[in-house]
This record gives sequence, C-alpha cells and structure tokens, in this order.
Amino acid sequence: MRYKNNYEQELKDIVKQKNLTYHIDTMGCQLNENDTLKYKGILESIGFKEESMENANLVLFNTCCIRENAENTLFGRLGALKKKKKTMKNVYIVVVGCMTQQKHILEKMKKSYPYTDIIFGTFSMFSLPEKLYNLLKNNKKSYEYVEDSMDILEDVPIKFDDKYKASVSIIYGCNNFCTYCIVPYVRGRERSREPEDILNDIKKLAQNGYKEIMLLGQNVNSYGNDFKDKKYTFAMLLEDIEKIDGIEIIRFISPHPKDFKDDVIKVIGKSKKIARQIHLPLQSGNDNVLSKMNRKYTKKDFLELVDKLKNADSSISFSTDIIVGFPGETEEEFLDTLDVVEKVKFDQIYMFIYSKRNGTVAATMEDKVSYEEKVERLERLKNLYEGYLPENNKNMIGKIYKVLVEGKSKNNDNLYTGRTSQNKVVVFEGAEDMVGKIKNIKITSEHLWYLKGEIV
Ligand code: SAH
Ligand code: SF4
Ligand code: F3S
Repeated sequence: MRYKNNYEQELKDIVKQKNLTYHIDTMGCQLNENDTLKYKGILESIGFKEESMENANLVLFNTCCIRENAENTLFGRLGALKKKKKTMKNVYIVVVGCMTQQKHILEKMKKSYPYTDIIFGTFSMFSLPEKLYNLLKNNKKSYEYVEDSMDILEDVPIKFDDKYKASVSIIYGCNNFCTYCIVPYVRGRERSREPEDILNDIKKLAQNGYKEIMLLGQNVNSYGNDFKDKKYTFAMLLEDIEKIDGIEIIRFISPHPKDFKDDVIKVIGKSKKIARQIHLPLQSGNDNVLSKMNRKYTKKDFLELVDKLKNADSSISFSTDIIVGFPGETEEEFLDTLDVVEKVKFDQIYMFIYSKRNGTVAATMEDKVSYEEKVERLERLKNLYEGYLPENNKNMIGKIYKVLVEGKSKNNDNLYTGRTSQNKVVVFEGAEDMVGKIKNIKITSEHLWYLKGEIV
C-alpha cells in the first residue's frame, strides 16, 4: 500500500491558518522510534512545526506495552495534559502505537481519558491525515480499533533526526509467540518489505550523506520467509546493501538465535561493512525456561552460535536481552543464565524483570518467585556484568578501530565522540570537519561506559 494524503491542501490551509505545532512523545523500542520519524514526516508534510511538549498544540503519544511500567508511564503523562487542554487554545491529543492496539486499553481510554482526540493502534498510520482533517475541520474525534492487517505502508514521508545514521524497517510483525511477549498480539504477523523498496530507500539515504544504516525488525532473520513469488533471504539483502556506495556501517536488530543461519554468518564474515557487534537476545540460559518461553533453542545451541560468529570474526562483540524471574524460574535455572553471561561476556545487556502481560501464555503460568527475589537476581546479574566489563574494555586498548564521528562531547568542547563498529562509545580530540566521517582511532584507556582514544 502506497501512502497518499487525500486531504493535503485542505489540511495545509488549516494548519497554516491556526499556526499549529506538534510534539511526539515516543515510548518503547527502535521500531516505535522509526514509526515516530514517519509520524513526524506526515505532520511536517502538512505544515506542523515541531515544538516542546509544553507549548505544542498537538501532542502525539507513540506508546509501548512490552512491560507494565511502559503502560503506567503513558497514563501518568496523559493525566498531566488534561490541564493543558483547559488552559491553552487548540490543544489536540493523539495516542497511537502498541498499547492502544489492545482493545481493552482503547476502551479504558475512551472512558477514563475522554479528552483524547484520536486513538488508534499500529495498523492505521496511513489514516492519520483523514482523522486530523475530521478533527481540525469538523471537530470530530476518532477512536479506531483495527484487529489485524497484512498491509505494508510505503512512500511515507520520513523525517530523520540524525544526519549520518538512519534506521530502515525491513520486516514488520512477529510470528514467534514467545510466551512472555505481547508483541505478536499488537504488531501482527510477519510481513517483509519488497527488496527494491528497501534498497531504494537506502540508496537515497546514501546519496544524502548517510553512512550508517540500522535494519529493523522484531526478527530480522526471518526476512523474506513470507515471499511466495521468489527466494530472497536476509543474507541476500545484506549482500545487496553491502554494494551500495556511501554506506559504510550496517547494523541490524533483532535477530532471533533460532533463525541465525550459516548463510548470514558467512556474509558477516566476509563483509567490510556489517558492524562487529551482534545483538543476540538470550532471555534465559536454562533449557527448561527457554522451552517454557517457546524460544526454540537450548543453552548449547546459543553458545555454539556465539562460537560460530566468533570464528567468522574474532572481533565481534555481543549484546543481549535477559529476562529474570520468568514464572517459576528456580535459583538453579537462574544460575544457568549467569553461566552463559560469564562465558559470552556480553558487552551490553538489557536486563528486565519479567512483567506479566495479559493475553500471553506465560500470564497463565504459576509464579512462585517473589518480587524481592527477582530484584535480587537482577542485581546479581548486574554485578556480574559490571565486574567483567572493564576487562572487555581493557582488551581493546592499543587496538585501532573504525569510528563514525558523531559530534562534540557533551562535557568538553575539544573532545568529540563516536562509536566503534562494536558500538562502544569513544571520546577523542577532534575537529568539526570530522563529524559524519569515519576515522581510525586507537584506544588509549577505558572508563567503564566509554573509551578514550586518539586519531591515527
Ligand atoms: N523481538 C526482539 C525483542 C522484542 S522486545 C527479540 O526477540 O529479541 C525487547 C525485549 O523485551 C525482549 O528481548 C525481552 O527481553 C523483553 N521482554 C519482552 N516481554 C517481556 C516481559 N513480558 N517482561 C519482561 N521483559 C520482556
Ligand atoms: Fe517478542 Fe519473541 Fe517476537 Fe521478540 S521474537 S518480539 S521476544 S515474541
Ligand atoms: Fe514496545 Fe511495541 Fe516495541 S510493545 S517494545 S514499542 S514493538
């Protein structure tokens, strides 16, 4: 489906006449951040100007429901906006995204937050202009629930915040139904974008000076599985992106360990552009818990995959996601998770305490682990991680890394920052004309959350 705004001129006139501004508040993952760039593109294409939350006329919340606290965040912020509606003229509140893709939440919001103007979920981005038209012109609110859709929206105007790094969605939805996870219920089934659409987007970005591309999907390595008319895989996509002049760094999140096949490992091994950092979500290191989570790999499979990737290039660094306190997780089972962490020594770990999501399979499992115990496990995981991290960083001292210079350091005007291919922040003496360029930097010291280096 190609994006088309049938109300463009009328909307432009209204927005101009009322001099309207917008602000987007984004919660959740990089997929939501990518959607936000599209919402910004749509709003700016009809004349809205970006503003702070306090001063903006239209506030759009792009919501997340992955854990309970994500939902509470929204309700808190919405409450605070009620006053704004009373004290300021032309205030409009729009709520979209994963959270409002749940019917019971939409119903709750209609009842408890009647001052919201537009609510829809993850399948209705294309209809934002129509809904805005009805609101701005006819004062008509819209609360819409679309159960499911296999549509892929192309040609959406998109406003990138960064000048050198851009994210590109390659596959939407998820078919995996990990038992703890709400995503398959709010993002629909897997659907891959056409290779030409992706490659054209990236070519355009390269022409506009972008150097680094982040490919996005809930499970990037199932890319192409849904094509009926052709065989075109994630490995083939990576190879085609490699050929695009101007793009120097390629990243992707998230691959699922169960779908990480040898063809992709081979492509990574010989690639000059794919970042030497791979995000491999572990979730748990214990076979029984992994099975209850429906992850479809074992501790052994995971460790073998790490070895294969290291054999392809020993400089690859790993990041991961871990859930502690899955229903019924025993102390012994948790120790398996610590064991994998100890063995792989991930450079970055996103750690979460299990959060019960209604509608998922795990929500019906008996959970005897107390909250205090879960917090304590999280703490032990954090201590283990922070204990070995300096050693990981020390191993980088004296070596030379390719770094995309991102800009001035926040705290010191002479210093600049960038990230190595391994996604480590490096601080070094630089100059303004280096921003946006790739430099070779030798690491000189480590400081837990960043490294210091010098240009060679
Ligand atoms: N598709 C990606 C990640 C999606 S959500 C993947 O499979 O890796 C990001 C992370 O949130 C997950 O990896 C998981 O660690 C965490 N998460 C998902 N559901 C959760 C829940 N109910 N409680 C706690 N953490 C959860
Ligand atoms: Fe959720 Fe699993 Fe899909 Fe990731 S792969 S989005 S954790 S169901
Ligand atoms: Fe949240 Fe939706 Fe992402 S639930 S983590 S914003 S896919």
